[in-house]
Amino acid sequence: MEIIKIENLSKSYSSLKRKNNVLALDNVSLSVERGKIFGLLGQNGAGKTTLVKILLGLTHPTEGRFSLFGDSTNNYKNKKRIGYLPENHRFPNFLTAYQVLYYLGLLSELNYDGLKRKIFEALELVGLKGVEKKKVKTFSKGMMQRLGIAQAIIHNPDLIFLDEPTDGIDPIGRKEIRDILVRLKNENKTIFLNSHILSEVELITDNVAILHQGKLIKQGSISDLTAIENEYRITTDSELDTFLSKSDFVNFQLKKLNGFTYVLSGTDEDGLNKFVDLLRLNGITIKELIKQKLSLEEIFISLIKDLDKVK
Ligand SMILES: Nc1ncnc2c1ncn2[C@@H]1O[C@H](COP(=O)(O)OP(=O)(O)OP(=O)(O)O)[C@@H](O)[C@H]1O
Ligand SMILES: [Mg+2]
Repeated sequence: MEIIKIENLSKSYSSLKRKNNVLALDNVSLSVERGKIFGLLGQNGAGKTTLVKILLGLTHPTEGRFSLFGDSTNNYKNKKRIGYLPENHRFPNFLTAYQVLYYLGLLSELNYDGLKRKIFEALELVGLKGVEKKKVKTFSKGMMQRLGIAQAIIHNPDLIFLDEPTDGIDPIGRKEIRDILVRLKNENKTIFLNSHILSEVELITDNVAILHQGKLIKQGSISDLTAIENEYRITTDSELDTFLSKSDFVNFQLKKLNGFTYVLSGTDEDGLNKFVDLLRLNGITIKELIKQKLSLEEIFISLIKDLDKVK
């Protein structure tokens, strides 16, 4: 089921001082399935935060429509099912972690009775157990982000928007935050993630969309976007040079990468299997055989480069 559906959304920021309006979103359409982690990617200023703010009702689109939970009205009840971690959030310095969650929990209309238990559950989930009495002014960046995630999930929302949740966090902290997101997904939550850390988006998201200067330039599943058709990497225990010119395999291209590792291209699975049979027949041991993939970062950079060339 589609939990978010966006159709032809545009947003132009206008200002009396500026002569030109800023077209932050340009005819964007996309949808997000329930229970998935969705990644919205793009360079600084691409329009990611603007899109999230529109979905949350914090700003209005200039054109287009969207629905949340299958409902296109600005329904107050739907808002209660949403959690939000804004980018560059700040909590009042003088509050303790417990007080932040208590205050924001009340704003989410949680009742007093169960709130204490919910605060401790959320703190435990984000790895902040034991620091509830510390003032947030003593918190590191990583602790602040964890607290931000805790406030986004304290009311047990179904849909969670996280705007750059791992910004400025060290690799171990990032891994821990990724683990939290996967745990939330396993509880059937839908997560909408804004990020420009592509290597990490690749590790956890099911689907991604790439925004560039307000336009959606690509969307799809990570596996579809990164797969390279008919290309395999093969590592053996000896040289394959004699096979480079085999007449049976004229359509193949076998290129040496390094050592006994080669890239085989231009063949479907059938051809690949014939090639493997031939190697085995010649007593060659196959140590590794994998379908070639591009990284999300490589895809992203080549897309942006192509667009810049067209200009
Ligand atoms: N309130 C505003 N008034 C005018 N222009 C704005 C406003 N908010 C954003 N913009 C402009 O809209 C464009 C998109 O900004 P947005 O913050 O959505 O990008 P982003 O993808 O979230 O970037 P970042 O990765 O840096 O967070 C930018 O050109 C930005 O300058
Ligand atoms: Mg942003």
